[in-house]
Parts: sequence; structure tokens; C-alpha cells
Amino acid sequence: MNNLGKDVPIPLYYQIKARLLEAIENGQLKPGDRVMSERELTTQFGVSRMTARQALTEMESQGFLFRVQGKGTFVATPKLEQPLAGLTSFTEDMRRRGLEPAARVISAEETVAGRKVARALGVGETASIYRLERLRLAGGEPMALEVSHIPSSFVPGLLDRGPVEHSLYRVLDERYGLQLIRANQSLEAVAANPYEAEVLKVREGTPLLLLERVSRDAQDRNIEFVRSLYRGDRYRFTTELIRREDTL
Ligand code: GLP
Repeated sequence: MNNLGKDVPIPLYYQIKARLLEAIENGQLKPGDRVMSERELTTQFGVSRMTARQALTEMESQGFLFRVQGKGTFVATPKLEQPLAGLTSFTEDMRRRGLEPAARVISAEETVAGRKVARALGVGETASIYRLERLRLAGGEPMALEVSHIPSSFVPGLLDRGPVEHSLYRVLDERYGLQLIRANQSLEAVAANPYEAEVLKVREGTPLLLLERVSRDAQDRNIEFVRSLYRGDRYRFTTELIRREDTL
């Protein structure tokens, strides 16, 4: 890699980042390859340790690199591309990619809706609901933290056969004959708090994508309200846009 342009108005850390990104893009650096350490970058480019660290930290939080304590910094596998348009389940999404989906149940209980959930589901604040908090994994790697809420009246005895360790959508369909066919979903950026960072195995403050979804069945009943926190360093959401006649 060439020397950095010290007289150009582009921060040095940013120039290092651009070099590393270029090497990843043109295949010189492949997923799993070790990249230069802070110290090596310092020698190679004649920058301070802090500058080298900034380049690596930023690339790590953007999902291009990952660090292994005591071993070094490595090139990450590319982010998963997730289309926003389809009403699919995590299990279906992962299987389609050839990855093994899993759910680690953090908590599962029958409780009362409370204000926010009641409003989302259109039920009373004291209505009984099931609340499931699950960590979703793909090939053993934490991908998303999900909290699902379903009115108990639709799924009586949901937890009688144990917590929902596999596909919730499959349970809804097979045990309760509930097919979700439509949903409203919002997407916004948040920063991982200490708890979320710990379970998702990211650094505190890492960008996460918060998806909130209310799914309905054919009779237009609100069946589930879910808050899903997807790792911003592992996911890239895509969507197709169609220009409407009346905007032309
Ligand atoms: C995705 C959605 C959630 C949905 C879940 C169901 O992760 N973001 O809103 O509840 O899929 O997945 P599964 O059927 O695998 O439990």
C-alpha cells in the first residue's frame, strides 16, 4: 500500500480506511484474512497509534472487520442482504441462505400488555399477552434480539409445551392455524446498550437496526407485535422502489 497523502484535506484515518476497503473490494484481502495491527499500520503509514485505531474501530463497527482478543483483526464476511418487502420469518430467511437458524430463549412469560404493546396491538392495557424474548442466531452467530408479543386469546397455552425454541411463525400456523399475511414495519437506527451489546456480542454503541412489526392475519387481526434489533454490522436491508405515475 502506498503512502498517505499528508497534504490533502482528508483525515489520515479515513485514508487508511479507504486503502483497506479497496484491498477488500479487489480481493487482496479476503474474509478471514488478518489485517495489519495498529502497530503495523503505524509503521507502514507513519501515523499515530490513535489514527490507526480509529480506522480499525470504525471499520469494525461498520461490519468490515472483526477483532479476536489476543489474535488480531480480521476481514469479516459480507453483510447479509435482507429484502424489506417480504413478510418472512427469521427461520425462512436463514434457511434460504443455507444458514442454520436458531433461537435462544432469554425469557418467555404470560403477562399484561402495558401501554406501548396495547397501542401497537389494539388491545386493552391489561389484556393478557405472551411475551417472548429470543436471541436469533445463524450458524451459531448472534444476529438479532427479538421481543415478540402475542395476545393470549389467539394462542392459548403457547408455553405449555416449553418455550418457543424454533420458528414462532410455524407454531402460529401449525398449532393455532394463524397465517400472517400482512404487516406494517418501521426501521430505525439505535446504538447497542450494554445489555444488547453483551447478548449480540458487539461493542456497546454499535449501530443496530430496530425493526418494529405488527403482523396481521387474513381477517385483519393484529396477531403479533415484534421489536427486532438486528446487528447493523451484519445486516444490510434492501428494497425495490417503483416510481409512481402521479409523481412524474
Ligand atoms: C423475523 C421478524 C420477526 C418475526 C420473526 C419470526 O425475525 N423480524 O418480526 O417475529 O421473524 O421468526 P421465526 O418464525 O423464525 O420465529
